[in-house]
Amino acid sequence: MHCIQNISKNIIWVGGNDRRLERFENMFPIPSGVCYNSFVIIDSETALIDTVDQSISRQFIENIIEALDGRNLDYLVLNHMEPDHCANIEEIVRRYPNIKIVGNKKTFQMISQFYNFDFHMNMHEVKEGDVLCIGEHSLKFFFAPMVHWPEVMFTYEMTEKILFSADAFGSFGALSGNLFSDDTDFECTYAEEARRYYANIVGKYGQQVQAVMKKLSSCEIKMICPLHGPVWRNNLSYILNKYDLWSRYEPEKKSVMLVYASMYGNTENVMNVIANKLAVKGVKDMHMYDVSKTHPSYIISDAWKYSHIIFASPTYNLGLYYGMENLMKELAALQFQNRKVALVGNGSWAPRASKVMEEIACTMKNVEIIGNPIEITSSMKEEQHKAIDEFVDKIIESMK
Ligand SMILES: Cc1cc2nc3c(=O)[nH]c(=O)nc-3n(C[C@H](O)[C@H](O)[C@H](O)COP(=O)(O)O)c2cc1C
Ligand SMILES: [Fe+2]
Ligand SMILES: [Fe+2]
Repeated sequence: MHCIQNISKNIIWVGGNDRRLERFENMFPIPSGVCYNSFVIIDSETALIDTVDQSISRQFIENIIEALDGRNLDYLVLNHMEPDHCANIEEIVRRYPNIKIVGNKKTFQMISQFYNFDFHMNMHEVKEGDVLCIGEHSLKFFFAPMVHWPEVMFTYEMTEKILFSADAFGSFGALSGNLFSDDTDFECTYAEEARRYYANIVGKYGQQVQAVMKKLSSCEIKMICPLHGPVWRNNLSYILNKYDLWSRYEPEKKSVMLVYASMYGNTENVMNVIANKLAVKGVKDMHMYDVSKTHPSYIISDAWKYSHIIFASPTYNLGLYYGMENLMKELAALQFQNRKVALVGNGSWAPRASKVMEEIACTMKNVEIIGNPIEITSSMKEEQHKAIDEFVDKIIESMK
C-alpha cells in the first residue's frame, strides 16, 4: 500500500524506510535503519526528484503512482548516481517511456556505467545554473562535485525555495512517520547519526562542502530535503552551522576522546588511569572507546566532535594492533585535521606502537601531538604516575 506525505501543497514525499539492512554500503552499522527520500512535484508538468534503493522499490512505485494520481511523469531529476538512489531509473523509464531524465554530463556517464538500458532518447542534460520551468515551479541546478561523488548536483526549487540537497544534510536513521526534523526530537534521535553519516561519508570533502555552501549563500532557502533523514523546514541554521563546522574540521566540543586497543587489558588500564586524572582535574564529558568493540564509524564521528584525542595501542608484530591502524589510517584518508592528539604506546620486547601512531598522525593536516608519548612496557608501574600526571597537565594546558 502506498505511504506518502505532502511536504507542501504540490510536493509529495514518496520515499521509504529500510530497518532490515544491517550495514549501509555493507560497511556502516545502522541500528536505527535508514530512509531514502524522493519527492514528486505536481505542476503543469510533473517531476520526480531522485529515486530510491532497490530494497524499497515496490513501496516506491506504489507511492509514485498514488502521488501522480493518474498523471504522466514528465521529468526524473537525478541529483546523485549512487545506487542507493538510482536503483529504479530503468523501471521508471519503462513505466513512463517519454520521461526526460534530468542530469549533467557525469550523471549520464554514470548511468551507462551502472546500468544496461538505452536512455539516450530520455536525456535532458543540464549545465550549472540552468533553470527548468515545469509550471509554477522552476528547478535551478547547482553542481556540487565531490559532495561526495563527482556527478552530484543540488536542485533548488525557486518558487517554494526548497533545496533538494542530495546526500548533504542527511542522516542515518529511518523516519518514524515524522518527516520534518522539527517534528522529531532531533537532538536525541538523529543528531549523532547525522554526524556519523557526515564524517564517514562526506567527511573527506570538507573543501567541496564549503564551496557549495558558498555557492548557495545567495539563495533564500526555506526547506532542505536531503536524500536520507528528516527534512528541514525550521531552524535551518542548526544543520547549516553544523555542516559549516564539520566541513572546516572544527571540533564541536572542547574535551577528550580516548581510544585504545588492548589485548590483555594493560593499555586499557593506562587509559582508565589517564581519564581518571583528567576527570579529577575538571575535564568533562569525555568518551572512551575500545577499537575492538566499537565500529570505527562511531569513533570517527566522535573524532569530528572532540577537540582532543588520545590514541593508545600495544605493539603488534612490530606495528600497530590492526584495529587501531585501521582507525587511524581511515581518519587520515578522510582528511581529518585540526586536532590535538596525545599518544600511549605499549610493547613487551620491541615497542613500536607510539612511533607508528605518530607517523600516521603526522600525515594529518594541522594535527598537533601534545608532549611525548607515554611508553608502557607490558603494564603500567607505580613510578609512572608522575609522568602520566605531567602528560595529563600538558593536555589540560593545551585545552585553554
Ligand atoms: C600477536 C602479537 C604480536 C606482538 N608483537 C609485538 C611486537 O612486535 N613488539 C612488542 O614489543 N610487543 C609485541 N607484542 C606484545 C604486546 O604489545 C604487549 O604484550 C602489550 O603489553 C600488550 O598490551 P595489552 O595488555 O594492552 O594487550 C605482541 C603481542 C601479540 C599477541
Ligand atoms: Fe551517496
Ligand atoms: Fe545516499
